[in-house]
Amino acid sequence: MPDNTAALTQKPEWQALIRHQEKLAETPMRDLFRDDPTRATRYLIEAAGLTLDFSRNRLTDDTLSALADLARACGLEQRTEALFNGGIVNITENRPALHTALRQPADTDVKVDGCNIMPEVHSTLARMEQLVEAIHSGQHRGHTGKRLTDVVSIGIGGSFLGPKLVVEALKPYWQGGLNCHFVANIDGTDISETLKALDPETTLFLVQSKSFRTQETLDNSLVARQWFLANGGSDTAIASHFMAVTTNIEAATGFGIAADNIFPMWDWVGGRYSLWSAIGLPIALTLGMDHFRSLLAGAHAMDCHFRNTPAERNLPVLMAMLSVWYNNFWRAGSHAVLPYDEYLKHLPEHLQQLDMESNGKRVTQHGTPVDATTGPILWGGVGANGQHAYHQLIHQGTRLIPADFVIPLKSHNPVEHHHATLFANCLSQARAMMAGKTREEAVQELRDSGMAEAAAQTLAPHKAIPGNQPSNILMMEQLTPETLGALVALYEHRTFVQSVIWDVDCFDQWGVELGKQIGNEILPRLLGEKSDGTAGDSATDHLIERFRSANGL
Ligand code: F6P
Repeated sequence: MPDNTAALTQKPEWQALIRHQEKLAETPMRDLFRDDPTRATRYLIEAAGLTLDFSRNRLTDDTLSALADLARACGLEQRTEALFNGGIVNITENRPALHTALRQPADTDVKVDGCNIMPEVHSTLARMEQLVEAIHSGQHRGHTGKRLTDVVSIGIGGSFLGPKLVVEALKPYWQGGLNCHFVANIDGTDISETLKALDPETTLFLVQSKSFRTQETLDNSLVARQWFLANGGSDTAIASHFMAVTTNIEAATGFGIAADNIFPMWDWVGGRYSLWSAIGLPIALTLGMDHFRSLLAGAHAMDCHFRNTPAERNLPVLMAMLSVWYNNFWRAGSHAVLPYDEYLKHLPEHLQQLDMESNGKRVTQHGTPVDATTGPILWGGVGANGQHAYHQLIHQGTRLIPADFVIPLKSHNPVEHHHATLFANCLSQARAMMAGKTREEAVQELRDSGMAEAAAQTLAPHKAIPGNQPSNILMMEQLTPETLGALVALYEHRTFVQSVIWDVDCFDQWGVELGKQIGNEILPRLLGEKSDGTAGDSATDHLIERFRSANGL
């Protein structure tokens, strides 16, 4: 068994990495490439339809084995088995986190409280399939007999970001006949703008809330119900137009949703890991069940790779350990995700919740302070657009910003030479980040362009780029349900592995609660239902008054 008792930074493996970093800091990646012609092919891993080129990182073979040693010393193998086997990995809520079971074949066995959960997982998939078929075949229609044409998914956080990412990313696989909309924000604009384009006779609302207690989702669902009732609907007609996915059957029934229209969720699935459950209904309805099952199969392939591959060749472990490497040993602080695929434009948003809600923690599972910096800020956006926006800061700013490029080798839209240009942009960014441009190179370039020596010397510092910015390039043959499933599962496991190193609970999110509590105190004061005492401080009280007077309250 690994020695898990020593404080993280006191572990010999951690100390070894500190010493190793000091040595490696003297060798830029440019030199590592110059000295090892095999680097590009040695630092490449293929798994579950994805290929990771991690050669443009500040690492050598020694780094890889030192990072793997740290992972082992932190008990990664045992913790991974606990994750897959239904161990209590969400300590503060005393729950397993079994999103992996949602994509496992039916003939496997995963127990929660001594009960095999796989039959329920697969019977829920079968129910989803029935609904998808009933709607697409026209068997399930709106209350006036018209075919359903639109589905509105009302949910927020994990009940929104994953399904939205997948629905948008897999547009080439849409089955047609059903348009999917998402409403998440409590800002009335979100629901109002969505409803404007819809016909109540042909719209299905999916209330997506694990807890069925989330204010944004409940308030938006009430507005949808009022709109439906005010536009020809009735209490009985709600049965054909409102469905829910939740663990809280009682609250969903209380809302007026027929018991037959409620799909189960389980405590052992975390919200941000839930797109594989019935929370994925918007995906299944838009893409069809075959594609939804392919998505699950891709994720399962990544699960198998993660569970069975040694740390040194394990894609999620490697990406997680690189994150720890830069965050803790090079003080990076942030991580950019740069999908070079228009269809993946929502990937950074989904990964933001996945990673930052999971690893934005400051105490260990045992409640003691983590003695290292945890969750880096994850950010990003679609390429090549980002090149004309924030890449400048990566190239010439003063911060270290590791990045993941994500790009398919083939496009679904092979317009002229666009995909080759996009690929060229991705490769050139990764190369520029790695190699940069020295001052001498900049001077020479300016001389070659005919500039006078003095002017070249003056301009050169502005044109020099330090380089040595690390990046991964993550590729797939094409963006398909399988490769997208593998990609999302890869980042889920990357998140988990980081949490194991920092020894934090990546399945709870207590920090979100304080804002909700304070919000519940402020709202009645804004509405004038409560006026005694203070909302907490003079600044809050002052703006409550500003809001009330602006709105004539
Ligand atoms: O933001 C907190 C959170 O609890 C997320 O983890 C969750 O995905 C989201 O709110 C929505 O919760 P629910 O599905 O219970 O409405």
